[in-house]
Amino acid sequence: MAHHRIAVVPGDGIGPEVIDAGVEVLESLANREPSLTFDFQRFDWGTNYYKRTGLMMPEDGRDQLRRFDAIYFGAVGAPDVPDHITLWGLRLAICQSFDQYANVRPARLLPGISGPLRNCPPENLDWIIVRENSEGEYAGAGGRVHRGLPEEVGMDVSVFTRTGVKRIMRFAFELARSRPRKLLTMVTKSNAQRHGMVMWDDIFTEVKPEFPDVTTDKMLVDAMTTRMVLKPETIDVVVATNLHADVLSDLAAALSGSMGIAPTANLNPEGAFPSMFEPIHGSAFDISGKDIANPIGAFWTAAMMLDSRGEAAAATRLMSAIERVTGEAKVVPPDLGGNATTRQVTDAVLSAISGGND
Ligand code: NAI
Ligand code: MG
Repeated sequence: MAHHRIAVVPGDGIGPEVIDAGVEVLESLANREPSLTFDFQRFDWGTNYYKRTGLMMPEDGRDQLRRFDAIYFGAVGAPDVPDHITLWGLRLAICQSFDQYANVRPARLLPGISGPLRNCPPENLDWIIVRENSEGEYAGAGGRVHRGLPEEVGMDVSVFTRTGVKRIMRFAFELARSRPRKLLTMVTKSNAQRHGMVMWDDIFTEVKPEFPDVTTDKMLVDAMTTRMVLKPETIDVVVATNLHADVLSDLAAALSGSMGIAPTANLNPEGAFPSMFEPIHGSAFDISGKDIANPIGAFWTAAMMLDSRGEAAAATRLMSAIERVTGEAKVVPPDLGGNATTRQVTDAVLSAISGGND
């Protein structure tokens, strides 16, 4: 075990509520294991900072974050500032400039949680969606001309590069190889989008022979949505573009019970820059300030961060504590059908950590 310098960027809405709870949980793990230590530094960047300064984070924000081992991020977005300003000003500004090209999104039915699918036992829904996180539909290329005039044009150009596609394919194959079923499904829309998406198909075929032990198949994204709902047990690891995987992973979160439990990691696998860990959900201003946000997504995210820092034992301890709380179903937050507060769920996980006898 080691010392980890963590930049904490809680952001907006329920971001600070769940991330503060996550920091408490990480501190309690460190208290149990003296050789595991954290140095948390909090950055109050986000929409309030923007309203004061005109920027979502300071000019040298990236330089400040670069010194850390990992970034623990909440969410950005507020009702009174356009989403493209908040998202590009903070979250995407970090993901893009730190080349966090692999976005990893596990979805699993945790014990005690029944998702919306009928006849779906927990072992039938255990997926990891790998989202290309640096280019594609969210490359930011495009423009608007003749603004406000009848002939106005708006364009978002999807940018796919051979380097970008190849590295995400290899990452997804490696991940599939590390799992018991070793099954990888590649998702595109290469029937309708005949340039970049066909290049995805081609590169998938080229990379595949490097991983003879991985079983593969290919789906169009529209058909993939129905497969996720109707045949969840046929899916293991999925790789898809920035946009497609963004959509599929929200569906995956809902199918596994709630947006409030799903975690994600934005990885720079080479370690040239810090990776960033965040719950999949947004700032959920419809419920912020009410102490009802489910913090489990932020906790599971913290477990992913521990894993990526080489702290497998602490990650397992945290996941076991989460699963003990969901499995007992005594402390259940509103999004999962109960009435427990953020505080109560956090306390339940803290006591499961301190009660764990491993
Ligand atoms: P959202 O994820 O914030 O909320 C969607 C629904 O799920 C809401 O009904 C919300 O109450 C519920 N929900 C989300 N997290 C929950 C939790 N932990 N516990 C209980 N319920 C939870 O998505 P929405 O409403 O589309 O966006 C709100 C804002 O968040 C927007 O400004 C959007 O741009 C931003 N956003 C930011 C993201 C990020 O920073 N990574 C990701 C998604 C949205
Ligand atoms: Mg999304």
